[in-house]
Amino acid sequence: MGPIRRFLALPPDSVPKTVFVAVTLCLLASMVVSAVAVSLRPVQEINKLKDKQINILQVAGVYDPEVDVLEAFAAFEPHVLELATGEFTDKFDAATFDDRAAADNPETSVALEDDPAGIGRQSRFVTVYLLRDDAGAIDRVILPIHGYGLWSTLYGFIALEANGNDIFGLQFYSHAETPGLGAEVDNPRWKALWPGKRLADEDGNLQITVARAAPPAGADFHVDALAGATLTSVGVNNLVRFWMSEAGYAPFLENLKAGEI
Ligand SMILES: Cc1cc2nc3c(=O)[nH]c(=O)nc-3n(C[C@H](O)[C@H](O)[C@H](O)COP(=O)(O)O)c2cc1C
Repeated sequence: MGPIRRFLALPPDSVPKTVFVAVTLCLLASMVVSAVAVSLRPVQEINKLKDKQINILQVAGVYDPEVDVLEAFAAFEPHVLELATGEFTDKFDAATFDDRAAADNPETSVALEDDPAGIGRQSRFVTVYLLRDDAGAIDRVILPIHGYGLWSTLYGFIALEANGNDIFGLQFYSHAETPGLGAEVDNPRWKALWPGKRLADEDGNLQITVARAAPPAGADFHVDALAGATLTSVGVNNLVRFWMSEAGYAPFLENLKAGEI
C-alpha cells in the first residue's frame, strides 16, 4: 500500500488526519486573508488620500459633508516647497509628491542634529496647499506638520491666514496617542483654542507656545496644554515651533509676507 492509500485508510479521528485537516484549513484561511488584504490595498490607499484631503478641507474651514471631497479639494493649489529657500519648485509633481517617502530618501532629506520634533530625518521638500479667494489672492496657506508626542508621531496640518502669522486652525489626521489623554488633540474643544493665535510677535520672534501657563509674550501666543496629557502637549509645542522656525517654514512665511508667493 502506497503512503497516500495508507493515509486515507486511517480513521478520521487519527492524529495524522486531524493535523492534515488543521494545517489545510490554516493554509486556506491564510490564503483568503492575504488575497483580501492585497485586493483591498488600493481601496485603503484611496481612503487614506481622501481622509487627508478631508483634513485639509477641515483645517482650512471649508469642509462640507454634503459636497464631494474631490470637487471641494480642487479649490486647493498644491505646490512642492523647498524649505531652505522658501520657494516653490517644479522639480517634482505636486499632485503625486510623497512627503513621507521624500523624508526617508537620503537624496531629498537631511538627518537632523537639532531635532526638537523627534522626527529623525526631515525632507527638504514638502507639499503645501494654497487656497485663494474669488479675486485670486491667497486667502489661506495649509502647511503639513509632524512630530513626536508621547507614543507616536503626530501628522497634521496648520492653516495660516494670508499674512503668514495668524493661525486659522490646526489638526492632526494620524497619531497613536492614548484615547482620552493625548488623543484629546482631536477634541473639537481643544482644536477651537487655535484659531486667532499668532506665531510671531511684532519683532518677528517666534512666540507660539502650547503650555499650561501663557508665555511672557501673552495670551495671543498661548494654547492651553491638554489636561492629563502634558507629554503629548510638549510634543505638539515642540513640533509646531520646529515647523514654524527657520528649519521649517520661516523662509516661506517671509516670502509670503513680502508678497513674493
Ligand atoms: C496608560 C497610560 C497612557 C498615557 N497616555 C498618555 C498620552 O497619550 N499622552 C500624555 O501626554 N500622557 C499620557 N499618559 C500620562 C503621562 O504618563 C503623564 O502622566 C502625563 O502626561 C502628565 O500630564 P499631567 O501633568 O497633565 O497630568 C498616559 C499614562 C498612562 C498610565
